Amino acid sequence: MSLLQWKPAYSLAIPSVDLEHREMIAMINECHQRIEEDAKPETIERYLGEIYTGIGAHFALEESMMRRAAYAEYEAHKQDHEELLDQIRDMMDLYDQDIEAGRRELQEKLSDWFGRHFATFDARLHDQLG
Ligand SMILES: [Fe+2]
Ligand SMILES: [Fe+2]
Repeated sequence: MSLLQWKPAYSLAIPSVDLEHREMIAMINECHQRIEEDAKPETIERYLGEIYTGIGAHFALEESMMRRAAYAEYEAHKQDHEELLDQIRDMMDLYDQDIEAGRRELQEKLSDWFGRHFATFDARLHDQLG
């Protein structure tokens, strides 16, 4: 089962950003699938590490675009990025301490926050820059 699906509404009409959004959706779905398949904790931890790094790089790209464009909502958007990264870190820590609780948290929340950020902050960025 895939948690997230690409939607045309997610498009920022900026090819580099769109490509990264698609890659992140694929990574998150793949991680979710591995959890469903009961992959080894080391495998899930590796996925989480890749997700964290990939998302961090993507956020940096968006933030540099926003700065160049003197985007009005820059501070709030950046803050939401930071909160999302903190949440991933918390999920990684929880998974590390308690695999079962970590699995539940990941399955419930991993795609959730992404969908929300896409639908709000990234959608507004789209309206300004797209
Ligand atoms: Fe964003
Ligand atoms: Fe984004």
